[in-house]
Amino acid sequence: MTGVFITFEGPDGAGKDSVLLRVVPALAAHLRVPLVETREPGGARISERIRDLILDPDNTEMDPRTEAILYAASRRQHLVEKIRPALAAGKVVICDRFVDSSIAYQGAGRGIGEAAVAALNDFATEGLKPDLTVYLDVPASVGLARINAHRRDTQYDRLDQETESFHDRVRTAYLKLAAANPQRIKTIDATQALDQVCADTLAVLQQYLVNYWQE
Ligand SMILES: Nc1ncnc2c1ncn2[C@@H]1O[C@H](COP(=O)(O)OP(=O)(O)OP(=O)(O)O)[C@@H](O)[C@H]1O
Ligand SMILES: [Mg+2]
Repeated sequence: MTGVFITFEGPDGAGKDSVLLRVVPALAAHLRVPLVETREPGGARISERIRDLILDPDNTEMDPRTEAILYAASRRQHLVEKIRPALAAGKVVICDRFVDSSIAYQGAGRGIGEAAVAALNDFATEGLKPDLTVYLDVPASVGLARINAHRRDTQYDRLDQETESFHDRVRTAYLKLAAANPQRIKTIDATQALDQVCADTLAVLQQYLVNYWQE
């Protein structure tokens, strides 16, 4: 692998979409190599079919481990079809959510256990880890309040039906991951105004990508 693999993580409503929308064009303007922005299921046909199963509000009987396996399977196909080829071509890949999300949501949120979900995903990714992870940190209450303020019915899916305590467990798991992986995971205070969150994010990216940077 010769490229750089960067992921964005955070609880629901942390601002990943908002930050990526502003930061990716700014980053692309300064990079000497092509930038690929993606998110699971990433346009991979099989990944999308699996994702539809996971998010279907009718699938109320879905077992947590089934859900975790399906996420890992969807991720695997996206990785093989899109992420690995881009990295092999030397590109910078930015992915909205990756394995850390499964550890936080399925491992801690759904209570399967972080280590079990990490092991499952190790199999799916053959151990491929992001080079850098930007973690946008907000308390569950802040993220949920943002989402509820802007909610449209079409955005409603099965995972949104969870309580604040679920999202608290997710956030706590993210903080544990960040503490355990300080080299890889850079934490940004995402309760700040969006301008400041974007500025902090860009600073982290510029520092990490200094060898790829042009003014
Ligand atoms: N720093 C911020 N301050 C205030 N509001 C924000 C900030 N960042 C994002 N928002 C608002 O919060 C809502 C959620 O933001 P966004 O969709 O970017 O989050 P996300 O992390 O992508 O969420 P999800 O995990 O649900 O995909 C949006 O309505 C957005 O306008
Ligand atoms: Mg989002």
